[in-house]
Amino acid sequence: MFRLGLIGTGGFAGAHLRAARTLADRTKTVALASRSLERLHKRAEQNAVTRFGTDPGVVIDAPDVDGVIICTPHQSHAELAIRALAAGKHVLVEKPMAISSAEGEAMVAAATRAGRVLMVGQCERYHRQHQALKRLIDAGELGEIRSGRIDALQNAAAFLPKDHWLRDRSAAGGGILWTVAVHRLDLLRWWLGEPAQVMAFSRRIDPAMGEGVDDLVLATIRFASSNRFASGVLIEVFASWGAWRLPYSESLMLLGDRGLVHALPGATAVQFPRLQVARAGLTPPATDFPSQFGGFSDLPDDPTGLPTGDMVTDQLAHFIDCCLTGSEPRSSGRDNLGTLRLLEAIEAAAAGSRLVELPRP
Ligand SMILES: NC(=O)c1ccc[n+]([C@@H]2O[C@H](COP(=O)([O-])OP(=O)(O)OC[C@H]3O[C@@H](n4cnc5c(N)ncnc54)[C@H](OP(=O)(O)O)[C@@H]3O)[C@@H](O)[C@H]2O)c1
Repeated sequence: MFRLGLIGTGGFAGAHLRAARTLADRTKTVALASRSLERLHKRAEQNAVTRFGTDPGVVIDAPDVDGVIICTPHQSHAELAIRALAAGKHVLVEKPMAISSAEGEAMVAAATRAGRVLMVGQCERYHRQHQALKRLIDAGELGEIRSGRIDALQNAAAFLPKDHWLRDRSAAGGGILWTVAVHRLDLLRWWLGEPAQVMAFSRRIDPAMGEGVDDLVLATIRFASSNRFASGVLIEVFASWGAWRLPYSESLMLLGDRGLVHALPGATAVQFPRLQVARAGLTPPATDFPSQFGGFSDLPDDPTGLPTGDMVTDQLAHFIDCCLTGSEPRSSGRDNLGTLRLLEAIEAAAAGSRLVELPRP
């Protein structure tokens, strides 16, 4: 039985604790830590956890905890992860992994020193549709991808109280880029490889956002040329916290020379609109203008290795597998340094109104 501890029992901790309950035949939550005792009591009761406290040491120093989930505000990720790794625990840390790539590097070094797993909660890599798209791209079924766009949209005014820590750069590390767009940017790296150049604009429109917490970001990323994508894929990024009546929506479009995949927000906003694909071989040949439409079909899920279909549960199952076998996680800390560097490059490009080159990995 893999014994879990969790630090930070706020909103998203509920998803992790539910995942652990779903995997009750493999794991058990044995210790919890957070700042508010009231919330701790509730979570402890819901999850039949008897050991909990406001000191993270309750989890980190517990001899019977094998792995620690860190689900706290972003600025505390690095310190808590490094402490847990030094205490011999495996770590699953929420996104963004840290608030700078320098912190991320220190976390990776701590994991290497300790010989423990460091995984980042980029849960969208464990979504069956996103895995299906990766398989499609890797199999060359969209041909050479040349361009695309991602959207990360949310209505912050409706859900972020004025004093929420996400409005404070010292706690959140940045704005919508670090909190929401990080998901799609990480997926792009997984699907397309490493970014090479970035141009960007960003703005702080909502005056209730703190200094340095931009709620609108527009960027263009050129991915490095590769054998598969010789011309270097160009991607447009649109991230806004000012999306009226859109609680949360992440969409995407990728254009290859043999296919096109898209997931656009419909009239009914959902978190992930279903991916639709049209590609050579499957799409009926277009003989006239009207018949060019209707060539799209739903991309079937790829459930391989994602047994439950709930991305947070399948992510936790993968974490436990990696801890038990010593294999590198799909969303390892080492891999995630590239995502942190991309976030930094977009911010630097926006701040200096210039083209930013990323180092070759
Ligand atoms: N993967 C996803 O899709 C997803 C979705 C949502 C959030 N997240 C990520 O999950 C993390 C937590 O977000 P959330 O929405 O759950 O935030 P939240 O609701 O504000 O919860 C944060 C929790 O951390 C506690 N806390 C704050 N500082 C702490 C510290 N230094 N040590 C121990 N506990 C501390 C807070 O305690 P008090 O309440 O007592 O202050 C609270 O329980 C963030 O990294 C966020 O980006 C990921």
